[in-house]
Amino acid sequence: MASDIIKLFVMMITLLVFMKLKPLLVKGEQQVPCLFILGDSTLDNGNNNNLLTAAKANYPPYGIDFPDGPTGRFTNGRNRADFIAELLGFDKYIEPFATVKGVDMFRGVNYASGAAGILDESGIHLGDRISLNRQLRNHRVTISHMSTLLGNKTLNKEYLRKCIYIVDMGNNDYINNYLLPQFYPSSRMYTSEQFARMLIKQYTKQLKTLYHYGARKIVVFGLGGIGCVPALLDLYGTEDSACVDSINSAVQKFSDKLKPMIDDLNSNLPNANFIYINSTSIAVRDPSSIGITDLREPCCEISTTIADGQCKYDGGACTDRAAHYFWDGFHPSEAPTKVNAERAYTALLSTDAYPFDISQLAQL
Ligand SMILES: *[C@@H]1O[C@H](CO)[C@@H](O)[C@H](O)[C@H]1NC(C)=O
Ligand SMILES: *[C@@H]1O[C@H](CO)[C@@H](O)[C@H](O)[C@H]1NC(C)=O
Repeated sequence: MASDIIKLFVMMITLLVFMKLKPLLVKGEQQVPCLFILGDSTLDNGNNNNLLTAAKANYPPYGIDFPDGPTGRFTNGRNRADFIAELLGFDKYIEPFATVKGVDMFRGVNYASGAAGILDESGIHLGDRISLNRQLRNHRVTISHMSTLLGNKTLNKEYLRKCIYIVDMGNNDYINNYLLPQFYPSSRMYTSEQFARMLIKQYTKQLKTLYHYGARKIVVFGLGGIGCVPALLDLYGTEDSACVDSINSAVQKFSDKLKPMIDDLNSNLPNANFIYINSTSIAVRDPSSIGITDLREPCCEISTTIADGQCKYDGGACTDRAAHYFWDGFHPSEAPTKVNAERAYTALLSTDAYPFDISQLAQL
């Protein structure tokens, strides 16, 4: 009797899984069965909430424009992972690994963690964080649960090939490692070129691991203008310049190597479809065109005790949030994030996405 119920349950999941395997072309319908997310604070939606770290955002005023309030998202509203899920037709956001349960895993899981990096040690001065290597181990745990629920490893592998995987890593290897010589020796050990090369080598290995876990449709985001975030402008005391050029040129050395890395992965891994999103290219060119008038001042009141640059606990926030490019000292507000996600999904310029955009990846 009990085993009949289990059989019926497995049949139902199998049916559900197959119903979603077929790509749905009708606009507004879910285009892929599942979305997995690996990344840092720009994609985190609650994985750091119960970690011992200063890098968390589960307190007001974070989430002031999000239906559920402060959830651990490092912005006022939806983050880039939320917008991409919406664009792919998901009717619910992808749940964090920290809380996802049972069959919900078949829709995908968000592993992203604030302060995490490609290198295990990045962000350690802020406390605990789930590095990319740890996120990959968590993904293996998810796969094993899914496989048990389906009762068929082969079927699970077939399912995982249909999912989209978003990977956005590297910000903290600069912000919370290379650019902080008081905590990390990396800038004394490596030139910026050597450091970028070392990161790419590690990143390539990690993306291959994701492929070996069954991923075939993988979106890799490049790094944006780290040298233009308010917290670093304050730190470097460049009052009249819009960006710290030395930071941007160090980070550029990493970004420049991403496209060749994608080519290398696509040509060496059978049936792999890696795409690269050029964050510089998809950045909002003319912020005033979407009503952003303030590029420099964060919207929330900044803490001087919690990880310099984050919002003050229970602190104030501006009322014209859509007019501020930055929500806190590091993270963009919802308004530019939305435009960013839309450009990654449907490229506007040939430099936005390589070899094609997320909407095309979904249709493969
Ligand atoms: C497992 O799934 C594969 C692929 O769909 C199928 O060919 C195979 O028959 C299944 N095995 C069992 C034991 O159901
Ligand atoms: C990324 O976009 C920027 C700005 O459009 C462009 O200058 C650069 O060449 C692009 N990089 C790649 C690797 O496509």
